[in-house]
Amino acid sequence: MKRRDFLKTAAGTGLIILPSGVLSGANAPSNKLNIALIGTWGRGSAHFNAISSENVVALCDVNEQHLERPAKRWPNAKTYVDWRKCLDQKGIDAVVCATTDFTHAFVANWALNRDMHVYCEKPLGNTVEEARTVRANWLKRKSRLATQLGTQRHANPNFNRVQELIRDGAIGKVTDTYAWGNRQIRRPGYLPAQGEPPAYLHYDLWLGPVPFHPYNPGYFTGGEGANCLQWNMYWDFGSGQIGDMGSHTMDLIWDAMGGGLPTTIEAKGDPFNPEVTPVEFESHFTMPGNDWRGPITVAWYEGGAMPRSPRNWVDLNKIDHGAMFKGTKGYLITGFDSRLIIPFGDDADMSYYNRRERMLPPVGSFQKEWINACKGDLKTSVDFDYGGTMTETMLLGLVAYRAGKKLEYDGATGKVTNDEAANAFLSKKYREGWTLNG
Ligand SMILES: NC(=O)c1ccc[n+]([C@@H]2O[C@H](COP(=O)([O-])OP(=O)(O)OC[C@H]3O[C@@H](n4cnc5c(N)ncnc54)[C@H](O)[C@@H]3O)[C@@H](O)[C@H]2O)c1
Repeated sequence: MKRRDFLKTAAGTGLIILPSGVLSGANAPSNKLNIALIGTWGRGSAHFNAISSENVVALCDVNEQHLERPAKRWPNAKTYVDWRKCLDQKGIDAVVCATTDFTHAFVANWALNRDMHVYCEKPLGNTVEEARTVRANWLKRKSRLATQLGTQRHANPNFNRVQELIRDGAIGKVTDTYAWGNRQIRRPGYLPAQGEPPAYLHYDLWLGPVPFHPYNPGYFTGGEGANCLQWNMYWDFGSGQIGDMGSHTMDLIWDAMGGGLPTTIEAKGDPFNPEVTPVEFESHFTMPGNDWRGPITVAWYEGGAMPRSPRNWVDLNKIDHGAMFKGTKGYLITGFDSRLIIPFGDDADMSYYNRRERMLPPVGSFQKEWINACKGDLKTSVDFDYGGTMTETMLLGLVAYRAGKKLEYDGATGKVTNDEAANAFLSKKYREGWTLNG
């Protein structure tokens, strides 16, 4: 039996393993995952506590200074600056990836192709092709690998409460959904060349697959966990706020309505800048019905664009990152932590609403959910199917923005069907030596 299968069986059956002849339980050394952490500072450090119950066997960061703190905590872990070499290490069961957006799909694909479980920070990719390859690679292996996209707000109890209200009919049948974020970071273009990268920073590896851009320290001056705001608005490095906070906020809609891919996409925003993604931007998607609901619309607004409030005494702008559902019997408006229902009609008594007996169980720790899934039933809240269709949809908004027209999309083939030229925006060319699906 392979070590991986043994871990699963052990967790699933409560089997007690005897490492070196010593009686032990669920966290016996042989019942722990061998984990590689790729991207070990910033968002990466938010995973230290969750993975500390496991064997952290490999640490990788393009910035050697960022390897120092975790190397002290896990002195037996091997250290790397190139994630491709890290993934060659024998015996890795699972990978946590907290690198730049433009390397997520690379790391995730390479890890899945080597039969490793993956937790990947959001968004799942920087192009439609990237999100689709990761999703496809996981779907092929879902009977043996657990995946989780890093939208940890999903574990907030409010997500469950919103899903219950929607699915139990608190606002009737949902027809339209809206999500928004108000963050505005304006940049004129890529930063100009300035100085030389310090010796501890492997800048060429940081750029990795994207076209060359000269070094500027400005890409690295953000605080820990917020440095992504120094680079994620540039087309080659990120997808702006739709991929950033949009991943968390659209998750409210995906969770309540069930995932899927759009059939039409329309978008508009700031005038096109070939270097920087738009700040003010909105995209509108038509989503087909699924096994429990009819078709709906999904809309995303950012950087000042906002949906209209259903009541003038509700100021949606007071919710920095929020979502709204319109149903046949009312509205549900929500942030990450609390919600508001506005039934239609001044005397609406909500007698139509059939509240369930048993509420959804809490998710608990979002990272632990993935660790337990790797050792157990492989089920997570935001696996790469759910997270893949969500990322693909969000990125299609930017494709429609660049195409400048309403697009029709075939989710089965991943092709725009009414504008051949728009298909060019679904993927990117990479620098020589970098393979997306290696
Ligand atoms: N889930 C959340 O709430 C949340 C919050 C913040 C950031 N994030 C996501 O986490 C990711 C990292 O964001 P950040 O603000 O920590 O960015 P960051 O620029 O600080 O990068 C994080 C770490 O990864 C390292 N790194 C960069 N490229 C690498 C590579 N190719 N190989 C190995 N290491 C590499 C950096 O040196 C740094 O130590 C982003 O994708 C961002 O969207 C998620």
